[in-house]
Amino acid sequence: MSTALINPRIRGFLCLTSHPAGCAANVRRQVDLAKAGGPGKGLGNVLIIGSSAGFGLASLITTVFGHGAKALSVAFERPGQGDKPGSAGWYNLAEVHRLAKAEGRQVESIIGDAFSGPILEQAITALRERFGKIDTLVYSLASPKRTDPATGLTHGSTLKPIGAPYTGQTVDLDTDVIKAVTIQPAVPEDIINTEKVMGGEDWERWVEALIAADLLAPGFRTVAYSYIGPAMTHAIYRDGTIGRAKMHLEGSANRLDQKLQKAVGGHAWISVNKALVTQASSAIPVVPLYISLLYKTMKANGSHEGTIEQIIRLFRDHLAPNHSPVLDANRRIRVDDWEMREENQAAVASLWPQVTTENLLDISDYAGFKHEFRTLFGFELDGVDYNLPVEVEVPLV
Ligand code: NAI
Repeated sequence: MSTALINPRIRGFLCLTSHPAGCAANVRRQVDLAKAGGPGKGLGNVLIIGSSAGFGLASLITTVFGHGAKALSVAFERPGQGDKPGSAGWYNLAEVHRLAKAEGRQVESIIGDAFSGPILEQAITALRERFGKIDTLVYSLASPKRTDPATGLTHGSTLKPIGAPYTGQTVDLDTDVIKAVTIQPAVPEDIINTEKVMGGEDWERWVEALIAADLLAPGFRTVAYSYIGPAMTHAIYRDGTIGRAKMHLEGSANRLDQKLQKAVGGHAWISVNKALVTQASSAIPVVPLYISLLYKTMKANGSHEGTIEQIIRLFRDHLAPNHSPVLDANRRIRVDDWEMREENQAAVASLWPQVTTENLLDISDYAGFKHEFRTLFGFELDGVDYNLPVEVEVPLV
């Protein structure tokens, strides 16, 4: 037992501390929504890669608590030690495990580098010994780097425009000041490296290994998450290095789909999701400001969703068993459809040139962005007394 008082220590898009009780409260809120938003049964075994935060955590919660799945989860997180808090993702998983155990549900997590050979082997062993064949695999990794197990080389991903420098406005998350940013264009290696990290090579590696291990159930389905967004973010996102990686990921979906149809009558899809506050998206220049304006608009007209609402809708409308997902012309599921509605995009586009440091809090939901960012780390959750010391060393039961 080791308790500590924990306060947020935020540096830009990083928060160096996290609060176990707050993360647990955040998970319980999502579990309640998932239970209310799903039939409670229908899915068998699922494998969630990148299961401890953001869309992957929402996928773990939705499949287990909304659709009755048994889940093997993979994430890269750090437990608390002494008075040093662990990572938010650790505490998120700890609460998922605790609730699952209390309700007699099977959830197991492998903590380590999903890009590596040994973690894939560990997952195969766990599936063979304790789960059996899987019905659904969600691939939801967001990482700044990846060591390719085939070569031993480490690749770093970048968020750069391609072809020309990008100059635009962004909000400085430390000072809350709107300022101009100029980002120099990628060199060819940046594109290759970003594809290596955030493209689909590793997703293909997992699925191919699971086919070879005969661990996919007939009709198996897999989904990975992508983003497109509006023209105002294209230079830095869709047309930039990360967009190239997403296009690679979309190519992987098509390659995997062909293989899976042959192997087990299965499918691989991309789901294009909404821009949402997560640890990964907060690090992208321009995106926090875009999200602040988008949230203001979507909250005002009642079309706003958070991560959990997005994934509940994804599984309800597209990925529930015996459902065929609705696909766009490029075979992608589009749960970014509400974000991309004409009325929402027109409103954001008209606010974009007006925003200044002075009017930021009035014309955008920057306050909501900051609040949600803190909740990712377990801060500012209702019902949590932050003046009390909390247990730091929380196990994954
Ligand atoms: P996140 O930062 O909230 O979560 C990332 C997850 O990946 C965590 O569970 C983390 O433990 C895990 N992870 C990272 N490196 C790992 C490694 N080496 N081994 C094992 N686990 C590792 O990220 P977020 O935003 O949920 O992103 C997930 C996917 O959704 C990404 O592909 C992202 O591009 C996509 N997406 C995100 C959007 C957003 O606005 N946040 C919008 C649309 C798509």
